[in-house]
Amino acid sequence: MSLPLRISASILSADFACLGDQIAAAEVAGADWIHIDVMDGSFVPDISYGLPIIRAARRCTTLPLDVHLMIVHPERHIASVAAAGATIITVHVETCQHLSRVVQQIREEGCQPAVALNPHTPVVMVEEMLPLVDMVLVMTVNPGYPGQRFLPQTLRKIERIRMMARAAWRDLDLQVDGGIGPSTAPQVVAHGANVLVAGSAIFGAPDGIRAGIESLRTASMAIG
Ligand code: DX5
Ligand code: ZN
Repeated sequence: MSLPLRISASILSADFACLGDQIAAAEVAGADWIHIDVMDGSFVPDISYGLPIIRAARRCTTLPLDVHLMIVHPERHIASVAAAGATIITVHVETCQHLSRVVQQIREEGCQPAVALNPHTPVVMVEEMLPLVDMVLVMTVNPGYPGQRFLPQTLRKIERIRMMARAAWRDLDLQVDGGIGPSTAPQVVAHGANVLVAGSAIFGAPDGIRAGIESLRTASMAIG
């Protein structure tokens, strides 16, 4: 089984004075998804943005919107995030007391459910969820800020989740988020990731958005 490589451009590092142009530039440059980080200043230290930005992004692109909820009580917001235009909704296992219920709620709202693990959270926390979700997100930094250094100890987790998914005959999307760029992309792909979230490496790329996406893809293909 072979899953397509996907690049999800994280707008956390975009220029919000011209967000529509930045999203359009990522789309024409070949981004597969647009990643939207919702942060509440409680589950993670910083506050980012919420529903108005998801709605605005929905009007700017036809690409899937990959919404990453770094918030406590995500179950209270699934319906509004779905109505705002999310395609994929990712919730953290650390924030859900009844994870399978939240995943079911996401499906009932017509979105694709995914679950995320912080770097210190063991992989067994998602084992029972593998048949129920469309994607697992392994955080490769502690969530909260863009531009952090990739944590190499997460490579083993990526590999273990890919093995668990194969054992369950599940052709699951495995996403990584944090510190992903041309030097780390080949490592995560070699360990089984197929969806790469990147913010700084795309919107902060020295030679522009197109060059950022192209170098990520070229680096990933070299190994994957
Ligand atoms: C991190 C966020 C990421 C962030 C990644 O807390 O979840 O999506 O945008 O930023 P980079 O790619 O700069 O590490
Ligand atoms: Zn994210």
